Amino acid sequence: MKRVFPPSPEVLRVSEAVLALQGSKERDPRRLAAAVKRLSDFFIAEPEGATPWKEAWAVEAYFSYYLVLNEIRNRAVVLEGRKLGFFDGLDRAVDFGAGPGTADFALAAHAGIQSFSLIDRSEVPGQRLRAAGADPNWRYFSRLEDSLFTSPSSTLFVASYSLTEARIPPQALQCEALMILEPSTQQDGRELLKLRDHLRREGYHLWAPCTHQGACPLLKNSPRDWCHDRVHVDRPEWLVRLENELPFRNQTVTFSYLLARRTPPPPLPEGAARLIGDRLGEKGKDRQMVCRGEEREFLAWMHRQGPAPEWPRGALVQLPEGLKKTSNEIRVDRQLTIL
Ligand SMILES: C[S@@+](CC[C@H](N)C(=O)[O-])C[C@H]1O[C@@H](n2cnc3c(N)ncnc32)[C@H](O)[C@@H]1O
Repeated sequence: MKRVFPPSPEVLRVSEAVLALQGSKERDPRRLAAAVKRLSDFFIAEPEGATPWKEAWAVEAYFSYYLVLNEIRNRAVVLEGRKLGFFDGLDRAVDFGAGPGTADFALAAHAGIQSFSLIDRSEVPGQRLRAAGADPNWRYFSRLEDSLFTSPSSTLFVASYSLTEARIPPQALQCEALMILEPSTQQDGRELLKLRDHLRREGYHLWAPCTHQGACPLLKNSPRDWCHDRVHVDRPEWLVRLENELPFRNQTVTFSYLLARRTPPPPLPEGAARLIGDRLGEKGKDRQMVCRGEEREFLAWMHRQGPAPEWPRGALVQLPEGLKKTSNEIRVDRQLTIL
């Protein structure tokens, strides 16, 4: 039931190649952990600071760790979008703040998109590596203005972990579709909810994680909440050893995201709702936040009914008809269908 993701073999190949160029062939856990800790401290101290690509330690940290985890986040979003048909009719991606092209690995492998314009104001080592592969479908630009917006009606605008460093550019809104991932912090997550509102006003339709086109209940009805998802990482041995040297672990990764298109999504089945929270045990019951409209609601499973079934966070489920609602709790008394 859990959504579990191993690192992508293609990403590991690029990661190995860049680390070898940096003189770090063996994935030495102590050396890489020191670099990862340093970049993590940098991001904490300067949440809106530019990724310091010129520093060797930042390159080692990104390619050994952040790229691997961010690709998993992107893959989770791409697979969710694919289930909904979100990528149908799109043939090109413009990845703004692409870095090593993190999002594009997942889009190429799982969304059927084969033509990529990667925009980054900095030179990132993985870019040169890709360019050296001379793939005509992967082109790099340092400014968005230099990439061509030839077919906006079949273009996906992508921003993965880049809107923390830059505002969404106006050209993005020429595109048929948008895929945006941001860190799952309260500040970035709530900024993304505000961007959701802006996109609605600009005529976009939300495909995921939202289940409706109304106001977001987490922005409207709470001063603190933000929407974020979580998937599990199937950690290979080298990643376990690296994380053993770190003061933090990422056995699961969280992220906030939006998939929006000018075209409206097909209607969801009656009773569809998305699980947008972890399951939390309380006295006598388990609760899990759920989204199906403008109200902030929870599913509740009473312990007297027996052990609660596993409800996978992030998934769309179908709530059966006739469930009782008490205050903001929808009382569930049977297994839910995962859509
Ligand atoms: C945190 S990295 C994210 C990289 C990648 N998208 C990922 O998900 O791993 C943010 C990237 O955005 C780039 N960036 C920030 N502002 C930009 C701008 N105005 N134009 C182009 N690239 C920008 C930075 O150089 C950096 O590589």
